[in-house]
Amino acid sequence: MKIHVITAFPDLLRGSLDESIIKRSQEKQLVEIIVHNLRDYSEDKHKRVDDYPYGGSPGMILKPEPIFNCIESVIEKYQISDPCLIFMTPQGQQYTQAKAIELSQKDNLFFLCGHYKGVDERVREYWEMDEISIGDYVLTGGELPALVVIDSVIRLIPGVISDINSAKTDSFYQNKLDCPYYTRPEIYRELKVPDVLLSGHHAEIKKWQEQKAMERTLAVRKDLIESDQNIEKNDNKNK
Ligand code: ADE
Repeated sequence: MKIHVITAFPDLLRGSLDESIIKRSQEKQLVEIIVHNLRDYSEDKHKRVDDYPYGGSPGMILKPEPIFNCIESVIEKYQISDPCLIFMTPQGQQYTQAKAIELSQKDNLFFLCGHYKGVDERVREYWEMDEISIGDYVLTGGELPALVVIDSVIRLIPGVISDINSAKTDSFYQNKLDCPYYTRPEIYRELKVPDVLLSGHHAEIKKWQEQKAMERTLAVRKDLIESDQNIEKNDNKNK
């Protein structure tokens, strides 16, 4: 998979893309992440990428030319026939684990990170883009939301996490939250690991984990159980 990120603030992304599982997935060549600096595609002699909105509203808007230039140049340079363009915006559809699974099955992802007050509307009019929001709150730009989506997608690519069953027990995978986990020591400050987990009885352990996951979900996210998102059904690559 190739992931292209288009941003006016590349340094906001670089550190995070160079750590932990995301770093290793690039080293293992399971994914290539290419960050494109919008300023390199500006036609302005001062490399400006933003301007005031017509109509006099407060805030700055990302100009259309650098965005069009960048998308077209990347598509041509990398010979991409099926770009999946994603615009990170609080006006987009709410991001879910089901969407992460869908995106993890694509070959080319493009993230356009909005910044300031937004992007010139002609970008949205011209390019067919998936518009994704990571939640009902507003951040200064789409860079952190893009990192959220990239992280959640990369960990689903086969080979990135050594045991894919670990991802399959994640929260949201079966419309419920994940169960609690314990590690060594067995007793810490008089707090004990539940006996069943030390029993070696796999069927009992599985039953306990399912029960705890259900209790947790009912306590804080009952809506998940009632939702009709069927993640497992959409997960073609990891079956
Ligand atoms: N840009 C600013 N806020 C955002 C959000 N909540 N989700 C996606 N992109 C954003």
